Amino acid sequence: MIKKCFYTFCISLALLLFFTNTNAQQKINPDSIRSKMQWFADAKLGIFIHWGMYSVNGVDESWSFYNKKISYADYIKQMKGFTASKYDPQAWAGLIKETGARYAVITTKHHDGMALWPTKQKHLSVVNNTPAKRDVLGPFYKALDEQGIKRGAYFSLLDWSHPDYPGFMKDTNRYKIAEQPERWKRFQHFFQSQINEINTAYKPDLWWFDGDWEKSADEWQSADVRKQILAIQPDAIINGRLQGYGDYETPEQNFPVSKPKYNWWELCMTTNNNWGYHPDDTAYKTPFEIITIFVDAVSNGGNLLLDIGPKADGTIPEEQVHILKELGKWNKKNGEAIFNTLAGLPQGHFYGPTTITKDSTTLYLFLPAQTAGNVMVKGLVNDIRDIQVLGTSIHLQHKVVGKISWSPVPGLVFINVPENVRDEYMTVLKLTLDKPVKLYRGQGGLN
Ligand code: GLC
Repeated sequence: MIKKCFYTFCISLALLLFFTNTNAQQKINPDSIRSKMQWFADAKLGIFIHWGMYSVNGVDESWSFYNKKISYADYIKQMKGFTASKYDPQAWAGLIKETGARYAVITTKHHDGMALWPTKQKHLSVVNNTPAKRDVLGPFYKALDEQGIKRGAYFSLLDWSHPDYPGFMKDTNRYKIAEQPERWKRFQHFFQSQINEINTAYKPDLWWFDGDWEKSADEWQSADVRKQILAIQPDAIINGRLQGYGDYETPEQNFPVSKPKYNWWELCMTTNNNWGYHPDDTAYKTPFEIITIFVDAVSNGGNLLLDIGPKADGTIPEEQVHILKELGKWNKKNGEAIFNTLAGLPQGHFYGPTTITKDSTTLYLFLPAQTAGNVMVKGLVNDIRDIQVLGTSIHLQHKVVGKISWSPVPGLVFINVPENVRDEYMTVLKLTLDKPVKLYRGQGGLN
C-alpha cells in the first residue's frame, strides 16, 4: 500500500514537473512564427560544428576545466596551438552540401569564452589570442551562403572565462549577483554586445543559444535579447535555450520514444561521444546507426543536428568525413522521402518509421534493419496505386488480405520486398495513394 502510494506520488510529481516545464517554454505563440519556421521544418538536417581551443589537446569542450579534469591554466594554454593552418571554409561548406543538410550551426563562442570572430569586446578571441590570428567565422558563413546553406550561430550565454561572470568552475564561483549587481550588469552589457556584433556583422539565419541553465530569463534579459535580434533580423530563428524565449526545442542526445508534442524540434547529436575533436574517442556511430536515428527523428516530426568536431588545424577527422559522405550518398538516393515531408503515420500502422508528402497522397515506408520479405501496413483505407523502391526503377506488388466488401474495416496490406532490392543502409518504399491518406483506427465490425 505504502509502495503504491509512493509510486502514485512519484508519477504525479513527474507529470507536474513535465507540464510546468513545458509551460515554461511557451512564451512564444506558435502561430506568430509559423511562416518563418517553414524552411526549418522542411530542412530536416543540419550540421553542428564544435570548433575551439579544446581541439588542440582533444579535451572536453570547456567542461574539462569546469569539472577540474585539467587546470584552467592548462586549458587556456591550448589557444597557442589553435592554428587553423589548413582551414578551408569552402571545403567545409562543400562537404556539408554533400550531406544534403540545409543548415549549419557553428560554435561562435563556447562556455570557455573564446570568440571565433574579431570581437570588439575586451575578451578572448581567435584573432587576438591564437596563431590563427584572423576571423574564422566570416569566411565560413560566406562559403555557406555560396552553397545556399542557412547559417546558424551557436553562442554560449554563460562565459566561464569572463571576469564578470559569476560562475567559474564546479563549486568555485567568483561572486553572487545579489551582492554585486553592478558587476552582473557589466556582464549583461558584455554578452549582449557580442550578440549584437555577430548579428550586425553576419546576420545569422538561426541563433543556437546554450548555457541558459545557469541563470533565469530575467537575469539573461531573454525577452530583450530576443527583441534585439529580431529588430535586425526579423526572420531569425532562435533555439529554445533562452529560458523560454526561443522558437523550438533541442532535445540533446535524446532519442524520443514517441512523437514529441512540440511544434518544432531538433535532436542534436554527436557522431562519437563528444562534441569537440577527441582523438581518444573512437566510439563513432556507424552510417547505418546515424541514418536510423535521422529517419527516426524526421518520422517523428523533428530535425537532426549532427555534430562534427574539426581539429585545431581546421581539418575534419576522416571518420567524421566518412559518416557525412555516407549520409549524403543515402540522402541523394532517398532524400525525396525526407526533405520537405511531414511526420508520418501514428504508431501502430507500420513497424517502422514513415513520412508523408505535404499533400498526403504519397506515403514513404522506411524498412528498418535490412528488412526483407512481407512487410505489413495496417489500417490504411486508401487504394495503393504504385509501390516503388525509392531511388530505383523497381516497382513492387502488394496484396490486401482480410477485406470484407461491405465492411468499413480496411484489409491488411502486405508488400513483398525481395532481398536484392534492399538499400545498403535503409530501404525506402514509396507508396502512391489514390487520394490523401485516410487511416482506420476503429474497433472493427461496423465502426
Ligand atoms: C551542452 C554542453 C555543450 C555542448 C552542447 C551541444 O549543453 O554544455 O558542451 O556544446 O550541449 O548541444
